[in-house]
Amino acid sequence: MNRDRSILIWLVRFAKPYISWLLLAFASMIIVAYFELLIPYKIKEVVDGILSGEITQNIIKSSAYSILGFIAVIFIFSSLFSYILNISGQKIMFNIRESLFGHILKLPQSYFDSNDVGRITTRVTNDINALNEFYTNVLVQFTKDFLVVLGVLFLILSFNPFLGIIILGINIFVILLALLYRAKLRRVYTKLRKTIAQLNSFINESIRAITLLKMYNKESLNYKRFSFYSNSNYRANLDQMYTFAMFRPFVEFTTVFTAGVIIWVGSHQVIQASMTIGELLAVLFYLRMMFKPILDLADKYNILQSALAASENLFNIVNVESEIDGQKIFNDDFKSIEFKNVWFSYEKDNWVLKDFSLEIKKGESFVLIGSTGSGKTTILNLLLGFYRPQKGEILIDNSPLETFSIESIRSNFSVIMQDTPLFNNVPDKDDFHNIKELKSIGEKQIQNIKMMMGRAFQVIVLDEATSNLDLDLERDVKNYLRNIQDKTSIVIAHRLNLIKDDDIIILLKDGKIIEKGTHIDLIDKKGHYHGIFSLNENFFKN
Ligand SMILES: Nc1ncnc2c1ncn2[C@@H]1O[C@H](COP(=O)(O)OP(=O)(O)O)[C@@H](O)[C@H]1O
Ligand SMILES: [Mg+2]
Repeated sequence: MNRDRSILIWLVRFAKPYISWLLLAFASMIIVAYFELLIPYKIKEVVDGILSGEITQNIIKSSAYSILGFIAVIFIFSSLFSYILNISGQKIMFNIRESLFGHILKLPQSYFDSNDVGRITTRVTNDINALNEFYTNVLVQFTKDFLVVLGVLFLILSFNPFLGIIILGINIFVILLALLYRAKLRRVYTKLRKTIAQLNSFINESIRAITLLKMYNKESLNYKRFSFYSNSNYRANLDQMYTFAMFRPFVEFTTVFTAGVIIWVGSHQVIQASMTIGELLAVLFYLRMMFKPILDLADKYNILQSALAASENLFNIVNVESEIDGQKIFNDDFKSIEFKNVWFSYEKDNWVLKDFSLEIKKGESFVLIGSTGSGKTTILNLLLGFYRPQKGEILIDNSPLETFSIESIRSNFSVIMQDTPLFNNVPDKDDFHNIKELKSIGEKQIQNIKMMMGRAFQVIVLDEATSNLDLDLERDVKNYLRNIQDKTSIVIAHRLNLIKDDDIIILLKDGKIIEKGTHIDLIDKKGHYHGIFSLNENFFKN
């Protein structure tokens, strides 16, 4: 309940700037409802007048003109309110979309680990559309329909209480049935939405992994899986259709049945002269007007349901907290960065870093080595604030990392990760030569490194950035690293030839430091590093 209220408050916040437009739409809608109710009444007057012979040619003429006039007014005001609703609806959706995407950009990395692209895309596109549909087709329309139904009941009750009570009774019966029907409808829609989401995210995953699928000849397996999801979506759609197929004819039947009852009871009354023919006609007109909204109820309910689900989805995203961002500015004044008894896991209790401690002083160069999965990249992820440790702290000059502006940290780190893509639309790409023909990952890495070298930075971070370069180019990078003075650097490398004499080597295993020291220290120690180095040396000799 409380949650529904927060969702509502969140939605209303976006509608607020358009409140005067909304009020205008409501006003136009009341005018439309009023004139719609007036038309059968006018017809009744004319018919009764003609039958009683009390009407003059002129009155008939003026009645006809006023009915034409009513229709014109209805046309103008319904156009007006649908215009207002659609324009303001689009504006509100535009604002929600902007705000949502802005929020998504600030979400922590862990959110993107557990929510695939397909799902997030659906949120920003489909779900916002569902809201728009609700706003333009249901919200105001529904109020109008409700007013019309109330008006009709009031009018019929006032000029023929007996018929009024019959109609009211049938109405209550239909509404009770519709309420019962709601449960089934909801089940059907929930299932339909689920199958759509499954289908979307399956397509998304398949297309993204298309190279792998082709490489391992898994197209037909994938196609079979697709068929499964597609088929359950198909069945859910059929289910929905059947459910609908029951409701509409039922309401149609009730309309005709009620009309029959009215004609039967009404003609008796006409014969007994307790009702005029004009009144009977008007009641039949009103009946149509009243059942039309009930007939649409199922459709409206559908839209309402998807809007509720959509706003819940959107609200779930809004409720995920943004990355923690502090006030302190990270700049070249920093003295040290310290990991202090850090424990970290991506998934619960599956510790990747276990009580990891390391102090990085300004100007020092570190080389991280360790087998795949030992946690090297994870250390960089934590350092750059992509994830937060569950236990322990990362301190910059004794202040927690969280107290620093994330932007100031990232802009002072020159980072090339294993899989850093080269953006095609980086505005200053013309500054770099040879960018037009980037064919291989190796070329991308060169480009990345050039880009990195061109930036002002304090800490350089390379995560296997040279793994796709040939040895000549790798040597260039090494020379570059050698020549930069008093920059702090953290380099993850598979090949050991990037290591300089004064680098501090960190040997990592299962999220723990097992050896630490300079090349000479560790060679003398004849431990793990010595073993790895000998292997490497032999490999390059051969
Ligand atoms: N986003 C992630 N979600 C879940 N587990 C992850 C994620 N990234 C890495 N891991 C796991 O964390 C461990 C350490 O990974 P990583 O730091 O990338 O190792 P390295 O860079 O040393 O090869 C591995 O077991 C890896 O499977
Ligand atoms: Mg890695």
